[in-house]
Amino acid sequence: MLEVKKLNKFFGDNHVLKDIDLQFESHKTTVIIGSSGSGKSTLLRCINQLETPDSGEISWNGMTLDFSKKVPKSQSQAFTKLTGMVFQSFNLFPHRTALGNIIEAPMTVLKKSRKEAEEEAMELLRKVGLEDKRDSYPHQLSGGQQQRIAIARALAMKPEILLFDEPTSALDPELEADVLNLIRELAEEKYTILVVTHNMGFARDVSDEVVFVNHGTILAKGSYDELSSSDNERIKQFLSFF
Ligand SMILES: Nc1ncnc2c1ncn2[C@@H]1O[C@H](COP(=O)(O)OP(=O)(O)O)[C@@H](O)[C@H]1O
Ligand SMILES: [Mg+2]
Repeated sequence: MLEVKKLNKFFGDNHVLKDIDLQFESHKTTVIIGSSGSGKSTLLRCINQLETPDSGEISWNGMTLDFSKKVPKSQSQAFTKLTGMVFQSFNLFPHRTALGNIIEAPMTVLKKSRKEAEEEAMELLRKVGLEDKRDSYPHQLSGGQQQRIAIARALAMKPEILLFDEPTSALDPELEADVLNLIRELAEEKYTILVVTHNMGFARDVSDEVVFVNHGTILAKGSYDELSSSDNERIKQFLSFF
């Protein structure tokens, strides 16, 4: 289980995450929803240690980061390694091919040989349905293809937790489906998955739980059906846009 306890994050005077308590069960998919600026990205970035929380704890299967003290670098790096993150804007290395993007971290961080890294990368390219694009550069790929390469790149580090931050917000609906179907497959493979998305169809069909973030607090957590039948005015108003 991934557990977040009394987590706080400030940017200057801006109190962005306010005593967040959340539990994410292993092998389950949680969809995170909420208005722009509510703290969804910051929450994911705190979990993978792109941001350092100001207080609270994050733990995973017995390993705990306690932000009331200075967290040793080795511990926060272990957490980064545990998590694979996929961003809205793909963030591929523009001057590397699809294959080059996928083998980069396994070679530099995990010290794999080029041969081993390439073999694993080819397997991942097959998995995301882009075997024939191994030598293409990002600018030669559609947004949906770029995002599937970004997912393959994240998987190459063998993470246990997958974090998706609006993975389809930059895509046309047609391309969005390819990416969401891939995430659905990963959910079926029992990764532990957190997805920030505005796609309520995906939330309904794939999520085990939905978390509603509102101004840096958790307003609700439950099944999609529970949230969609909530009496809470804020939740009703938010869902009425979809
Ligand atoms: N690196 C940063 N520096 C300063 N403020 C930030 C930074 N990242 C996010 N914020 C602020 O934190 C708040 C939450 O942002 P974010 O987590 O990106 O929200 P969401 O992903 O829900 O749209 C916003 O007020 C945003 O301006
Ligand atoms: Mg965001």
